Amino acid sequence: MCSPLQAVVFFCIYAIILCSCIAVIWSHFGEVRASDELFIRIMDAASPLYRRAVSLLPPYLQVVHLTSTGGNGHEQNFDMGGIVAIVAAGVISSYLVLNFISKAMGMRGKAASMDQLRQIGNVPNVCKHYVHRGKAEDDIQEWLTDQPADDSHPRVAIVGMAGIGKTALGTSVINSIKALAHFWSGIFWLQSGAPGPDAVLAIIREIHRRMTEMFVDGPFVADREQAGLGVDDLVTRINNKLRRRSCLLVLDGVLDPKMLESVLKLRCALLVTSQVKGIFDNHVQFKRVEVLPLDFVSSRKLFLNLVPAAVQLKGVEELLQSCGGHPLALSIMGTLFQDAMRAEGAASAAAIDDLMAELRDPYCRLQMRIKSDVVLHSADVERHSNVSRCFDFALDALSWNERKVYMSLEALPIGFQSTIGELGTVWNLQDDQALQMAEKLERHFLIQREVCSEGSKTVPTLWVLHSLQHDYLKMLRVSAPQNVPQQ
Ligand SMILES: Nc1ncnc2c1ncn2[C@@H]1O[C@H](COP(=O)(O)OP(=O)(O)O)[C@@H](O)[C@H]1O
Ligand SMILES: [Mg+2]
Repeated sequence: MCSPLQAVVFFCIYAIILCSCIAVIWSHFGEVRASDELFIRIMDAASPLYRRAVSLLPPYLQVVHLTSTGGNGHEQNFDMGGIVAIVAAGVISSYLVLNFISKAMGMRGKAASMDQLRQIGNVPNVCKHYVHRGKAEDDIQEWLTDQPADDSHPRVAIVGMAGIGKTALGTSVINSIKALAHFWSGIFWLQSGAPGPDAVLAIIREIHRRMTEMFVDGPFVADREQAGLGVDDLVTRINNKLRRRSCLLVLDGVLDPKMLESVLKLRCALLVTSQVKGIFDNHVQFKRVEVLPLDFVSSRKLFLNLVPAAVQLKGVEELLQSCGGHPLALSIMGTLFQDAMRAEGAASAAAIDDLMAELRDPYCRLQMRIKSDVVLHSADVERHSNVSRCFDFALDALSWNERKVYMSLEALPIGFQSTIGELGTVWNLQDDQALQMAEKLERHFLIQREVCSEGSKTVPTLWVLHSLQHDYLKMLRVSAPQNVPQQ
């Protein structure tokens, strides 16, 4: 299989031969105007090359060549039909050569351009209102494209709470020119889906199917059949396809640790996003980026990317603060404003006032449905339709008992920073049990550990909730009071 560099060299040689053929044929038959100086120079340069090439042909081919070009042919004029023939020959031969090169690179010839490569790989587009994440993006890009010293393959994880922008961040990184060029054999984007007995087999089958569609396995291998093959067999076959190719596999929204065990056997770069920090605990090979809420400047930028006209509205800054830098909440709010501002004059002013009043109420804020699905990643349209729904999915990971314990945090004041002892008091648990519980919640990004240090002084770890999570717990108490243990 040839590398992209070899393919480029091969294509250049073909282009030179094609150009010199056209130039020489033209010089033999065409009416060359004296004003076409550049053209004459090209012909002058190409003619000896061409003659030399012809002289190297076996004698019978030279005869064929002389017959087809009409001997010296200098007196003939080149008519429209001749031009069409040259163009047609150029187009057909270019098509054949490109097809040949893509086969030599092991592709089925479908992915002639970067865009087609992205389409086949199902790589999502970066959303229009995207705000760049600076260092996090640079780190991920570097980790993915740097070859690890031990000949292993890069493994990168993006983790963070639901709706914080993991998918958006991953999408932005892999759509960069550097990543697209580095993974010249293809980037395969897959949605991981809910855990289940057949989830791992289903995803491995999908990877195998997509790679079979994209790659040629070689003249004597026909590796299309999947029926009856288990995960390990499919992994072996996928690895055969990956040999001497540079691919990136992106698994978005992984919840099941078993899924990781299987994909880690694949010999390609891997980018995984997950809202369960804990699933990477036993996989030290993953370099991790934790996605944090946006700062106020970026929150404002995101919002104004969606509704530039909102810059003059009074009270918007306060609403932005209330989202705590949560991109999904900010995006939903932006689309609601877009809708309210679409009306004219007084109607628009009234709609904006109503909207602002609703958004000031934390429960409404969490439950307001997005007005335009286009700003969401297509696979998450249902789960991200409003913020509370997005948090419901995170809560699903807890057992009934753990859920009750978590919901009792609602009793703490907004913006609380609690030591483990204080959490133990709320939960009625010993310190070590409270720590276990806090760590379990942290693994699902349902509570955060405040990183603080005062010089060399040991400061006790403090535990905090994101402001929207706090609102969410309050909302749960109102909507399902029987779920919350009474104080
Ligand atoms: N950096 C960002 N700039 C602009 N919008 C963002 C950004 N990150 C996320 N979003 C918006 O928030 C929504 C949720 O983000 P997403 O990446 O899907 O969350 P996650 O994968 O963490 O659950 C996206 O559909 C997008 O509209
Ligand atoms: Mg996601």
